Amino acid sequence: MKSTRKTIGTCLSLLSVLLIFLTASCEDYRYKVEEVDPDAVVSFDTVIQPLFTSNCISCHGAIRNPDLRQGKSYESLTKGGYVTLPAGTSKLYSTITSGSHISYLDDPEKLKVLYWIEQGAQDN
Ligand code: HEC
Repeated sequence: MKSTRKTIGTCLSLLSVLLIFLTASCEDYRYKVEEVDPDAVVSFDTVIQPLFTSNCISCHGAIRNPDLRQGKSYESLTKGGYVTLPAGTSKLYSTITSGSHISYLDDPEKLKVLYWIEQGAQDN
């Protein structure tokens, strides 16, 4: 009887250690998710173009529209009608959030593109 109680005791302490560990790792995860402030001005040069350069130009160069290479992308996007309002239904945002393109950018990156278009798709 005594040993049964001891075993239950050991199990309970192991369980609490596990719980503490799980809670701690969940919190860590929460803090790793990047928050995107909808009121912060999104710069085309320092925020949006680097996303294109890292994730898009392997396919979107001179041959495929829109041309997303540095120095070409802004004109290609605005003249091609990719960044119209409302931002949520613009060709650029719809493309990066659906179909074959859904995983080229992560969620905070997609939000930055959305906010940049909402803010008037400026060459800033
Ligand atoms: C692996 C190659 C590849 C990559 C990487 C890629 N695209 Fe594309 N993209 C395509 C192809 C192919 C099409 C046309 C067919 C389709 O929609 O899948 C296309 C279509 C598009 C269109 C619609 C063009 C139109 O005129 O209808 C947009 C906008 C676009 N891509 C933006 C992006 C952005 C922004 C990125 C980076 C986040 C990106 N693409 C990354 C291959 C790619």
